[in-house]
Amino acid sequence: MFGTKVRRLPLTLGPVVRQQTNIATNLKNDTQDGQTAKFSNGSRYVPPTEKTIRDKHLADIKVTSFYSQTAIEQLAMKPPTRLTPLTMMYIGKTEDGNHLLRSAKYLHKDLPIRFAHRIDDFRNLPFVVACNPLLLELHERFIKIFHTLNSFPPIKTLDQEKVFTELLQNTLNCSSDTLPLLAEGFRESKRHIKQETLVRSFLDRALTSRLAIKMLIEHHIELRKDKPNYIGAICMSFSPKELIRSSAEYVKKVCQAEYGVAPDVKIDGHIHSSFPYITTPLNYIIPEMLKNAFRATVEHHRYSDLGLPSVGVTIAVNEDELVFRIRDRGGGMPRGILEKIFDYHFSSNNLSSDTSLLSYTDFDNHLYDQLVTKDNTNRMSGYGFGVPTSRAYCEYLNGSLSIETMYGIGSDIYVRVGLLTSENRVVRL
Ligand SMILES: Nc1ncnc2c1ncn2[C@@H]1O[C@H](COP(=O)(O)OP(=O)(O)O)[C@@H](O)[C@H]1O
Ligand SMILES: [Mg+2]
Repeated sequence: MFGTKVRRLPLTLGPVVRQQTNIATNLKNDTQDGQTAKFSNGSRYVPPTEKTIRDKHLADIKVTSFYSQTAIEQLAMKPPTRLTPLTMMYIGKTEDGNHLLRSAKYLHKDLPIRFAHRIDDFRNLPFVVACNPLLLELHERFIKIFHTLNSFPPIKTLDQEKVFTELLQNTLNCSSDTLPLLAEGFRESKRHIKQETLVRSFLDRALTSRLAIKMLIEHHIELRKDKPNYIGAICMSFSPKELIRSSAEYVKKVCQAEYGVAPDVKIDGHIHSSFPYITTPLNYIIPEMLKNAFRATVEHHRYSDLGLPSVGVTIAVNEDELVFRIRDRGGGMPRGILEKIFDYHFSSNNLSSDTSLLSYTDFDNHLYDQLVTKDNTNRMSGYGFGVPTSRAYCEYLNGSLSIETMYGIGSDIYVRVGLLTSENRVVRL
């Protein structure tokens, strides 16, 4: 049974999984300007390449060797240091590049702790679930990432920081298919799982931790660039209206490709507001919620002569939180569906496993782009991750996601996230 799935994987996920499995694959021996990083004792740090990793011990690290890895156990007992974005903003930029050093030192210490927690979570899964080939692959990859980051020498100079940043970029690249692997892994092992809450809490933690790691790494990488209006990944004048406008444009295209029609989006409320924010999580949540509203609208009114009612988005900003209310007239949900929509993998539009393996949308939707060229159907829904993942992200950002529905009429989705500048509800990454 597993055999078929494993054989299928390289065919379908091939370009995504296999190319990026090794985080050191793209690391060059030299930094971009041809220099290797030099350490205080005069030695040079040569970032690992695929070959050196294969040759040395990292390639041999398997899940089964976990028990001899005390470094992971020790770090899994420490809590990560969750910075407030406000602190990250105040660190800001210094002329001498000291801010880069401080940021790299923080990540060098903190990321191994975060990965150790993820590895610990894999270890605590029931044996039969942890043995799923896709979950095993992810587990082993996390162990490799952990060792690569944890064995990086202390960062004392900007040259070393530069090499470390390349390593971070590779970590990010090789994590890009985490979501489909997690989702498919749990889907395959679902029938072995007795406790539904186990999957939910594992996925909540895995996905939010991945979101935080992505934001922290992106922030560090962006700190090196001179982007007007940004400090690292923090946009200093984020406009919620602009986010809705661009998300609606994207979702309209997907909807039109699938159904041939799409409703309009009307935006009201605090449309002129702008404030500092990191958009990464909202770039996932808002398109997912709009897709659900669009799909419900089109499916409910497909045969009506009156045209499609628009989807309304109301923006509210107060000193503590940013709220979006996404209102559709798509017929709402009966109780039987409402009770399940926060479950991972629940969808009223179940796709075949072959389609879904390639089709999970993610922050930057590159998997969606792949599907566009491969298969032109079923992209609006079907993976059952939009609502539960969005709720986990909102809660991680000190907010919430709630739904009010009137079966027969439509639904209101409330997306709430804490503001970075809030003193009462401090957001920590
Ligand atoms: N605005 C909405 N109107 C009606 N049903 C909805 C709405 N939002 C979510 N749902 C229901 O919740 C289910 C789960 O949504 P989601 O987690 O986004 O997964 P998917 O969209 O892949 O099905 C949907 O399949 C749908 O039945
Ligand atoms: Mg959805």
